[in-house]
Amino acid sequence: MVDVEKCRMTRWPTPVLVQKAQPIEDIDDSIQALAEKMKDIMVEYKGVGLAGPQAGVGLRIFVASLDGTKENAKVYINPVITPSGTLVVNEEGCLSLPGIWGNIKRYSKCSIKAQGLDGKEFTEQAEGLLVRIFQHECDHLDGTLVADKLSTVAKIAARRKLRQLREDYENQNK
Ligand code: NI
Repeated sequence: MVDVEKCRMTRWPTPVLVQKAQPIEDIDDSIQALAEKMKDIMVEYKGVGLAGPQAGVGLRIFVASLDGTKENAKVYINPVITPSGTLVVNEEGCLSLPGIWGNIKRYSKCSIKAQGLDGKEFTEQAEGLLVRIFQHECDHLDGTLVADKLSTVAKIAARRKLRQLREDYENQNK
């Protein structure tokens, strides 16, 4: 059971963000509540996607909303992504790495298979911004962050910001 009351936006280097998330076996009431809470956090922080670990929960779930609204937010449980097409570079950020932006290579198309809150499996095809969101959020479920995918030059540029985030985390967890 997930304790939704404890769910908060997490920032790097919170351990749950860099660990592999676990499959959801039982879509119980706490998962329904978690999905609601994740949508709220995503909207509050003006994101277009949010993965379980970003709410402090190491489970394979993410929400995505192309326009950032709660109404259009969709829930993906135990997603499996199959990328295709060509690699496209675009600027990308992450709510768990505030202030860090980088040019990240992503596939231009994908198909995604996941379960909804009703437990039913569905498959979607995606392109454009949505395919980038899907790949970004699926990375989160494997503990991979955009900071891991930056070029060497961008990594050097992000060093100071990462150091600040680490200090903030250490101060909050003293
Ligand atoms: Ni992110």
